[in-house]
Amino acid sequence: MTAKGRSTTLDVFPRAKASGRKLAVLTAYDLTSARIAAAGGVDAILVGDSVGMVVLGYETTLPVTMSEMIHHCKAVMRSDPGVPVIADMPYGSFHVSPEETVRQALDVVKQTGVNAVKIEGGRNRTEAISALLAAEIPVMGHLGLTPQSINRFGGYKIQGRGAEAAAQLEDEALHLADLGCFALVLECVPAELARRISARIGIPTIGIGAGAGCDGQVLVFHDLLGLFEGLKPRFVKRYAELGRIAAEAVGRYVEEVRSGEFPGSEHEFGDAREKAPGEEGPASGQVYPGAMDGGGD
Ligand code: KIV
Repeated sequence: MTAKGRSTTLDVFPRAKASGRKLAVLTAYDLTSARIAAAGGVDAILVGDSVGMVVLGYETTLPVTMSEMIHHCKAVMRSDPGVPVIADMPYGSFHVSPEETVRQALDVVKQTGVNAVKIEGGRNRTEAISALLAAEIPVMGHLGLTPQSINRFGGYKIQGRGAEAAAQLEDEALHLADLGCFALVLECVPAELARRISARIGIPTIGIGAGAGCDGQVLVFHDLLGLFEGLKPRFVKRYAELGRIAAEAVGRYVEEVRSGEFPGSEHEFGDAREKAPGEEGPASGQVYPGAMDGGGD
């Protein structure tokens, strides 16, 4: 447990399922987004391969590599978020063989310290998930609209519609729970199906576009804060329009640079022996108060 009463381990998932408390999960990709997510009180952080689209500018998640995931997981872990962190296994990292899957997952777990990995897919990933669990790596499942299957699905389409597809998805969910996944993301499936699955399986379901019957929800950081103007799916609730606010702030900066209003005297340094305007005590020469001494006076 942390000072804020939150758990840094995955036990928050079974405890929430047992008590009926809803889990709030958010993606994060770097120090700043992880700090904001943690300050907001999320139960867990997912370093999603959505990083490829909202941070790296790829059109889909397919090009994301394990080295990119490791790079971003390291930045998130440096924020010391005080909640469990789950790393997405990117496309290609668990498709070759169970041995290769374990090797790739060990890389991200050992190099970054994340608590678990997430894998897209159901029965077709049985061997990969079993191998990971045998290597002591906890696994979060992911069913429904799995974006790494976009070429097979022919686009971003709701999954599990119709009796046959719903029965298959429910069967896959039970299978992933039986295998030993600690939680299951359900993406873009009919709300009634997600509610039924959530009631039937013993692990928490984390919905995204799967309605209120799930045991928790996950959103992409940039979607929640209005920072991404690419895809705007109906299931996203934008709690702020930070992209617009940020662009307005940048606009004011540009105007002030051009008008000469910025920088003001309070942003300037004086002679080495003099105090900067507003600086208390003897002139320290420190540009960033509290940071390492950059050379003194
Ligand atoms: O990559 C991601 O961000 C995800 C979530 C949307 C579940 O997989």
